Amino acid sequence: MSSISRRDLLYSGVALSASSLLVRSAWSRTAAMLADAAVTGSPAALAAIAPREHLLFDFGWKFQFGHGTDPARDLGFGNGQGDFAKTGDFKFAKLGFDDSKWRGLDLPHDWAVELPFVRDEELNSHGYKPLGRRYPETSVGWYRREFDIPAGDQGRRITVEFDGAFRSVLVFVNGCFVGRNDNGYAPFSFDVTDFLHVGGKNCIMLRVDASFGDGWFYEGAGIYRHVWLKKTDALHLGKWESTVRTPEVSEHAATLALSTMAVNQGAKAENAKVRWQIVDAEGKTVATAESPAQSIAIDGTATFSATASLKSPALWSVDQPTLYSTIVSVETDGKIRDAERVSFGVRSARFDADKGFFLNGKSLKIQGTCNHHDHAGVGAALPDRLQAFRIGVLKEMGCNAVRTSHNMPTPEWVEACDRMGVMMMCETRQMSSNPEGSAQLEAMVKRYRNSPSIILWSIGNEEWQLQDGEAEQGAKIAATMVERCHELDPTRVVSAAVNGDNSKGVSVPLDIVGFNYQLMFPDRFHKANPTRPLYGSETASAISTRGEYTTDKLRNTISAYDVNQPGWGETAETWWKFYATREWEAGGFAWTGFDYRGEPTPYGWPSINSQFGIVDMCGFPKDTFYYYKAWWGKDPVLHLFPHWNFEGREGDEIPVWVHSNLDEVELLVNGKSLGKQAVPHLGHVEWKVRYEPGVIVAQGFKDGKVVMTEKRETTGPEVAIRLKADRTEINADGEDVVVLTVDVLDKEGRAVPIASNMIAFNISGAGKLIGVGNGDPNCQESDKASRRSLFNGLAQAIVQATKQPGDIQIEAVSAGGGRLTPAKLTITAKAAEARPAV
Ligand code: GAL
Repeated sequence: MSSISRRDLLYSGVALSASSLLVRSAWSRTAAMLADAAVTGSPAALAAIAPREHLLFDFGWKFQFGHGTDPARDLGFGNGQGDFAKTGDFKFAKLGFDDSKWRGLDLPHDWAVELPFVRDEELNSHGYKPLGRRYPETSVGWYRREFDIPAGDQGRRITVEFDGAFRSVLVFVNGCFVGRNDNGYAPFSFDVTDFLHVGGKNCIMLRVDASFGDGWFYEGAGIYRHVWLKKTDALHLGKWESTVRTPEVSEHAATLALSTMAVNQGAKAENAKVRWQIVDAEGKTVATAESPAQSIAIDGTATFSATASLKSPALWSVDQPTLYSTIVSVETDGKIRDAERVSFGVRSARFDADKGFFLNGKSLKIQGTCNHHDHAGVGAALPDRLQAFRIGVLKEMGCNAVRTSHNMPTPEWVEACDRMGVMMMCETRQMSSNPEGSAQLEAMVKRYRNSPSIILWSIGNEEWQLQDGEAEQGAKIAATMVERCHELDPTRVVSAAVNGDNSKGVSVPLDIVGFNYQLMFPDRFHKANPTRPLYGSETASAISTRGEYTTDKLRNTISAYDVNQPGWGETAETWWKFYATREWEAGGFAWTGFDYRGEPTPYGWPSINSQFGIVDMCGFPKDTFYYYKAWWGKDPVLHLFPHWNFEGREGDEIPVWVHSNLDEVELLVNGKSLGKQAVPHLGHVEWKVRYEPGVIVAQGFKDGKVVMTEKRETTGPEVAIRLKADRTEINADGEDVVVLTVDVLDKEGRAVPIASNMIAFNISGAGKLIGVGNGDPNCQESDKASRRSLFNGLAQAIVQATKQPGDIQIEAVSAGGGRLTPAKLTITAKAAEARPAV
């Protein structure tokens, strides 16, 4: 109760005595609780005011592989072709089916990352994992879970919600077939009320089939996003129907256009009204609104809307991503029947054909990166915390926008951007106006239209036929998709990523025009179409291997100097100079922020992941990271490379580069100056140095004074392991993770940049290891092993908290022979309110 009382005080704005609290009206008490729910986002707080429950359904599943072609190894499924003859006859999905030998696991789960790599060039772009119709043993998975539905749930509507699963999913509940979903990224849900035993045990079962893919990159396999069980009153708010739009925004005032839909699945008509309580980031109620009562017939729906205004709103921006929230509640006879919390931001976004992009009326260049969604150690099944970790890495280099190439993102990625102030180009997977494509698009726009980070929708990427060959078809499909986006969300512009001249096909109906690569086109297009806003939907594809300074075709490495790109790409310096110096270009999205599995351009086996990233699979920066940081960020930058450990190459000429945004840089090699160079705007400086062991030093000058110094020293051999953690304390909620960086030091305590030691991890106490990585595009060690070799001096381990508070002891020891002093670290897993779960 204490938090409610505290919020009560906040709500009323005056200090109230305990007795006066008692006499407050029922509504204001409820309002205070609503405020609590709004500011904390706590499902428990929401549950206190409305009978809705949103329960995490991730824990305690059973899993077993099925089979893509042999029914005998697929629970008999598909044996006699009569499988769907009776919808209630699926015995494996009934209670009593023996799953005791199945593997127990928690979601999110990606079984692809657990599989070994196979040398099969057909699988090159997907990361050489044995998935597809030629790998029936590892392409189908069954998930099973038994769960209770208490007697108190009688009369409620119960829905199972999947944030996304890869890929073709059949869902069964208590022996009944419930539904299917046939794509890998869009969320889907089923109202399972009719299939449940209320007041008893139940069973849900899924067959997940990754035989077909949706893309040309690593996609994962299995239930790799969260699952939820939602329980509501029969009179409830429609899914993704609550919207908050901000048609008028200034620093002085904002108008909020509020809308929602109530659905009546009960046995009688209802007379319902809707209220909104708008709460700022501190939990203060800043506006309320209500929409008059309407009668809603049995099985009917009603739309409610209202407006509210905010005085001096705190605007959402990349520097200050202030969020508001509203609790939307539907009530009858003064009783709240359902409520939900919607987070939103107050901001304006505008693309201009002459001047580029504007956020809150201020010009802002889009400094974006495209990203796929997999990470070292965990594949496509990211714990929520890793989303924030990844956004943190990108923000550190000044990246202010991400493109969710080439599919709808998981909600936690969008939420991380909302919270951390990174804009988003949100892209759907299937560019089509067919029912599947339309459904994917609709789910994306409805799901995320309240997110302030999203500044544009993308209806697709590089559909060659629709751009060019079948231009007429393309224009019609795109027009339907653009129109649908506008209907669902009149506030945002719609675009697509096009790798052509944008003269026809899908480009015709787009609000703003995106160019993938091909810098010869934008100037021409701008001249011919001066009223159409432009930006770079995909740029660069520059390639480099972290910590490698030669391109070696025998070792599949690419030097980390910013000099390599495939035929269609550009170096970082080339594309950014182009976009930064044209006022009418809104900015662009570099391919890619993070390395990802698959697409090992320009190599093949044994390379298993891409080299396009500005950071590697773990998020360890490559050198080009500092080019971007210099020209995208606000802080002074002086980054000197390569390392200075080139034993055996004495006398060789080695390029030494500095990325900096200072005025001048001087290079000293073993105390001798090689001269000062002025840093060209949007460029870098470089020297050729004959290698001799020792130390190289860069001194950065601003207004004639040395303001920064960086050095690289030839290190001795490694003697000790070092462990660093991104946080010292995490939540004991069974979900939170700590991200650990491992390196090794010489006897003077200097990190050895070329080390490749095998390191083993021993974890004890309140946590478990869930994945390891090292960012090496050619490393085929298992992401799920308890050991990992360093790649150019670094490795990463991801440790997840259990639900027990306590210490997590992490020990890193040498596992490859040679004596290294081990490293130990203790992380606190602190007691935390676990999310309400099934
Ligand atoms: C683009 C494509 C991306 C990726 C990239 C590699 O054409 O849109 O998905 O394949 O090339 O350079």
